[in-house]
Amino acid sequence: MSNFIVAVDGPAGSGKSTISKLVAEKYKLTYLDTGAMYRMVAFYSLEKGVDLDNTAEVELMLKNINIDIDGDKFILNGVDVSHEIRTPRVTSIVSKTASIRSIREKLVELQREIGSGKRVILDGRDIGTVVFPNAHLKVFLVASPEERAKRRLKEYKEKGIKSDYNSVLESIKERDHIDSTRKESPLKKAEDAIEVDTSFLSIKEVSDKISALVRERI
Ligand code: DC
Repeated sequence: MSNFIVAVDGPAGSGKSTISKLVAEKYKLTYLDTGAMYRMVAFYSLEKGVDLDNTAEVELMLKNINIDIDGDKFILNGVDVSHEIRTPRVTSIVSKTASIRSIREKLVELQREIGSGKRVILDGRDIGTVVFPNAHLKVFLVASPEERAKRRLKEYKEKGIKSDYNSVLESIKERDHIDSTRKESPLKKAEDAIEVDTSFLSIKEVSDKISALVRERI
């Protein structure tokens, strides 16, 4: 199949990016981390002091932003910001950025451009519901907030970013709330998505499960 789309949605820390990368490698699919695109816009707005409540400032920002993705490198206006977009500072405002309609419209368009006519796996919150409602396979990953906080904390430790369990848990719960109650494309499972609870599964178990689903459909 020349065109094959896998949509992986779910809340922060449910394992979307880890699993998507493994499945992408196994089946030679292009992997697109759509959360990173929202993070790039959030980072830009912090750097330039953009008032996200001011429509004109947001419009101007969208005109001035150029997003390039080169493998696992995220290039914002010619600068590699792959590390900068993962800091708690960016994480703390990214849900707000992702709730703004004009920002979503621009990024969804870009995601469709990148994905069309290819064999891709995209992870995010609205891939199966909005970006590619006709995806060949839709997966919705879930896990308890406590398990997700543990995973995020481990990730931060590995990257040398200081944090603690309670603040990570709070931030996860807050983002869940904003992401799933926002007006624009809230986080929700597509009717035809297959839900997998990753709380008590190893990375290999989840990846094997999703791989079996890909194999059936590719
Ligand atoms: O997956 P992540 O934590 O990097 O996502 C960052 C934020 O972007 C998160 O708050 C939800 C939002 N997001 C979104 O609204 N739609 C997507 N397709 C991907 C991410």
